[in-house]
Amino acid sequence: MDYSISEEQLMIQKAAKDFAQTELLSGVLDRDETQKFPMELINKMGELGFLGMMVDPKYGGSGLETVSYALAMEEISKVDASAAVIMSVNNSLVCWGLEMFGTETQKEKYLTRLATGECIGAFCLSEPEAGSDATSQKTTAKDKGDHYILNGTKNWITNGSSAEIYLVMAQTNPEKGHHGINALIVEKSMEGFQIGPKENKLGIRGSDTHSLNFNDVKVPKENRIGEDGFGFKFAMKTLAGGRIGIASQALGIAAGAYELAKKYAKERKTFGKEIANHQAIAFKLADMHTQIEAARHLVYKAAWDKDNGNDYDLSGAIAKLYASQVAMDTTIEAVQIHGGNGYVKEYHVERMMRDAKITQIYEGTSEIQKIVISRSILRN
Ligand code: CAA
Ligand code: FAD
Repeated sequence: MDYSISEEQLMIQKAAKDFAQTELLSGVLDRDETQKFPMELINKMGELGFLGMMVDPKYGGSGLETVSYALAMEEISKVDASAAVIMSVNNSLVCWGLEMFGTETQKEKYLTRLATGECIGAFCLSEPEAGSDATSQKTTAKDKGDHYILNGTKNWITNGSSAEIYLVMAQTNPEKGHHGINALIVEKSMEGFQIGPKENKLGIRGSDTHSLNFNDVKVPKENRIGEDGFGFKFAMKTLAGGRIGIASQALGIAAGAYELAKKYAKERKTFGKEIANHQAIAFKLADMHTQIEAARHLVYKAAWDKDNGNDYDLSGAIAKLYASQVAMDTTIEAVQIHGGNGYVKEYHVERMMRDAKITQIYEGTSEIQKIVISRSILRN
């Protein structure tokens, strides 16, 4: 098996690392405090090609493969997991979904703007009563001939207020169950579309999360993605790739915390020597390094599967399940290695520990990943 990273992939990894160090690091503590992410930074990410990494250049994208995307996500997440989720939603849920399943007109109208970072998008599946149980959509899209009338509430939507374009799943034919669900492109400016208050979160506080309300929003039929009733399949297929993005985010958070902990352990002295020379601390670092290496292989394998036309539902779910656990374990140990300083904001690791938790919850909780994995392994 060839695990080598190409010259081009190394360049992308370096570009993401440089961007994280020069543009993201200085304001990350402030964004965690204020829960605000400046649009100028999002625009810069767009200019550098990080918002449409896998999109065909003819629609303004970077035309790269998933492995490069995973490498960039890892580097950004080492420094700022909030920037990473903004990037992940736009790349793998919104742009990828539109490029794969959208019409040419939809791509020309929306994809180019999204891929270049002129604006960003949001993916709206979750509802107050439909999180893990995603088929139980209560939002309705009534078929009115040449348009739909959209009513309902979405919960927990990343990029909720900063997005301009929203991919919204809604039920058109409840009697058909999940085969009655449609995916609609909704613009922020559409009448009857309302953004709820920002959630005050534990982690990824730089990323805005909102509920959204739709009150008789008129959505033209040409804004439906795919055939009538394709909405749930659209969401599942899109999420299967999205989970590779979140697995990369988890890997990056873990690796970022580990790097800080290793540096600290080589500097901080107790009992006359660096704490890295106390075996208890050295073994923690050994465990962290081992877990991160294992997670990295799973993440790259899932990305490689996607790039090579293999099934990636299973490898993506495995990567997300494992990498998110590693993110939790590693960040907790990074705080421990920092002692009292680990509990203080300017050392970053307490934020990383708070950020890590979300990777076990969104884009399918760890329990949902186990459902996906167990169904897949038991099928064969
Ligand atoms: N690709 C294509 N189709 C798929 C699929 C996939 N990966 N997974 C399921 N489906 C299809 C099934 O084939 C089935 O279709 P048919 O009836 O035509 O065969 C249909 O979807 C329903 O599947 P199930 O019967 O398996 O449905 P279920 O009710 O048992 O639930 C589930 C399946 C995997 C648990 C699903 O509900 C799920 O993924 N839940 C989690 C939701 C989630 O991940 N939400 C994330 C929101 S976005 C987000 O969180 C973004 C962010 O944080 C930044
Ligand atoms: P529930 O489904 O109520 O689950 C509660 C608990 O029960 C969990 O531990 C779960 O694993 C467990 N559970 C549920 N069903 C089962 C089962 N069958 N077997 C075993 N255990 C089970 N959604 C979007 O659509 N778009 C977004 O952009 C988005 N961004 C988000 C950002 C943040 C910060 C957060 C917190 C959430 C976001 N979500 C988004 C929603 C997220 O995907 C859901 O929170 C998640 O899917 C879980 O749904 P729930 O919160 O309703 O929990």
